[in-house]
Amino acid sequence: MKDKSLQKIINRAYEFNEEQQNALDQGIITEEEWYEINKQHFSSHYIASDNPRGQSGHSGNEHHYFQSHFMILEAIHKNGSFIDVGCANGYLLESLDRWTKSLGYYSVEFYGLDISEGLIDLAVQRLPDWKDRLFIGNAMYWKPEAEKYDFVCVKELSYVPVNKQRSFLERLLNHYVAPGGRLILGPNGEERETRHLENQLSKWGYKPTGYMEKSHHNNQLLARRMVWFDKE
Ligand SMILES: C[S@@+](CC[C@H](N)C(=O)[O-])C[C@H]1O[C@@H](n2cnc3c(N)ncnc32)[C@H](O)[C@@H]1O
Repeated sequence: MKDKSLQKIINRAYEFNEEQQNALDQGIITEEEWYEINKQHFSSHYIASDNPRGQSGHSGNEHHYFQSHFMILEAIHKNGSFIDVGCANGYLLESLDRWTKSLGYYSVEFYGLDISEGLIDLAVQRLPDWKDRLFIGNAMYWKPEAEKYDFVCVKELSYVPVNKQRSFLERLLNHYVAPGGRLILGPNGEERETRHLENQLSKWGYKPTGYMEKSHHNNQLLARRMVWFDKE
């Protein structure tokens, strides 16, 4: 028996992405409009939520949020800087900051980037001490002003149109990740057997350095996955 609410969310996101991609392919919208529609879609849904998890796109409770995101700590293996690309209201950064501090293994400085002005405004309201670390920009074109980051985390390559996803991955590796740093993709929920991301990466000739997989908390057909690439 599938978790119907989670499956509905996954299906809705896929449908939205597909509609957008078709409109772009058929020349009904430009690439600029693609980003604008995407931004409005995320912003309006997230900002309407009455809790910080919902404002970063997560529909579950705090325990579920922890179960879904704690695996990111597995990829943090040294002190350094960390940027969440598509940080929404900053809840992931805030949570990772709390978790890394409570474990005390590594000292990590957190940063965030989002395409939505409204969501970054919300992040700054929630995390005023971090206002200089929260940036507005389209990740496909934005570049770090000074230093690159030791850890770059991007939940989805679908933040850009399908035909741009490979160059997005390359941009992240070339322009965002510091030498000796790590690009983290995920964590993402998908049907256990699909392995969509890994298949796509392998078609492009990319072999992740590391990966994590976790079962869904109450659905054996779903899995949560994350992969990472180390940069020399
Ligand atoms: C699913 S949320 C992820 C939130 C957070 N990273 C987390 O894991 O909790 C996706 C976020 O990515 C942002 N986003 C989508 N496309 C983007 C792009 N091209 N550049 C920067 N941010 C983007 C959206 O505005 C949204 O806030």
